[in-house]
Amino acid sequence: MKQSKFIIRENTAVADHVYRLVLDGDTSEMKRGGQFVDLAIHGFFLRRPIAAQKWDSESMILFYKVVGNGTDVLSRMQAGESLDILTGLGNGFNASACKGKALVVCGGLGASPAFTLVKELLLCGHDVTVVLGFNKYDDMILADEYRLLGAEVHIATLDGSAGTKGFVTDVIASLENDFDYFYTCGPKVMMKAVCNSLDIPGEASLEERMGCGCGICYGCTCHTTKGAKRICADGPVFKKEEIIW
Ligand SMILES: Cc1cc2nc3c(=O)[nH]c(=O)nc-3n(C[C@H](O)[C@H](O)[C@H](O)COP(=O)(O)OP(=O)(O)OC[C@H]3O[C@@H](n4cnc5c(N)ncnc54)[C@H](O)[C@@H]3O)c2cc1C
Ligand code: FES
Repeated sequence: MKQSKFIIRENTAVADHVYRLVLDGDTSEMKRGGQFVDLAIHGFFLRRPIAAQKWDSESMILFYKVVGNGTDVLSRMQAGESLDILTGLGNGFNASACKGKALVVCGGLGASPAFTLVKELLLCGHDVTVVLGFNKYDDMILADEYRLLGAEVHIATLDGSAGTKGFVTDVIASLENDFDYFYTCGPKVMMKAVCNSLDIPGEASLEERMGCGCGICYGCTCHTTKGAKRICADGPVFKKEEIIW
């Protein structure tokens, strides 16, 4: 983990209440897709955890949704302003757990943390199918970016305004069932349905309200089949069989 100052390069609305934040700074602690950073936002005692979509040696990109006061203040910040950020938090997805064809299932903002994972899987030579679920077309993010990476992309929207009308599980049921491993990230109810519908091994990225964000306060503890675990430090990614929904 590293605490450092980042300068905002871009902070732009890209979907309904969703912003793309491009930050310049030291990303040396970022190692795996699915890791997150913890942003200090002026006026708030607790930092706000946000997953990284991707990064290079001197910049990173986050996608965030305005859901409350902290993210609202963040959405009003301008290029040139600075943010104090803890980087390199959490374990991230384990790309090497996949030995064959990968299925990556994301809901809403969950499309962001899975992006670097998909890039890693494709670089390792795996076939990757990505299923992205949104409430509506206006919520859709990153579909074209996933296609440009080289993944096979399927979309589900609840109102049918893009792709299949329905849930990600409806899309999964329509695919040939030849996957070896799955990864999922998004709303808890969606990830539970995905885990229950697939009889292959996989992993899911959990979320919880966080205090310290780095393993000290135990505020994010959840019960797993392997005992109590801190989502920030032992996760946020857990194997399917460890998760008690
Ligand atoms: C590991 C991790 C990665 C995350 N990655 C992203 C991301 O990539 N993009 C993104 O938009 N958001 C992400 N989140 C959620 C994000 O941290 C919260 O939306 C944010 O902290 C809300 O701050 P706020 O001050 O705007 O809202 P608050 O005023 O604090 O809360 C507003 C509402 O959001 C709910 N909420 C707040 N924090 C969380 C949380 N951690 N988990 C679930 N519900 C929460 C509250 O219960 C409340 O209903 C992530 C959370 C975790 C734990
Ligand atoms: S938020 Fe403090 S231990 Fe996880």
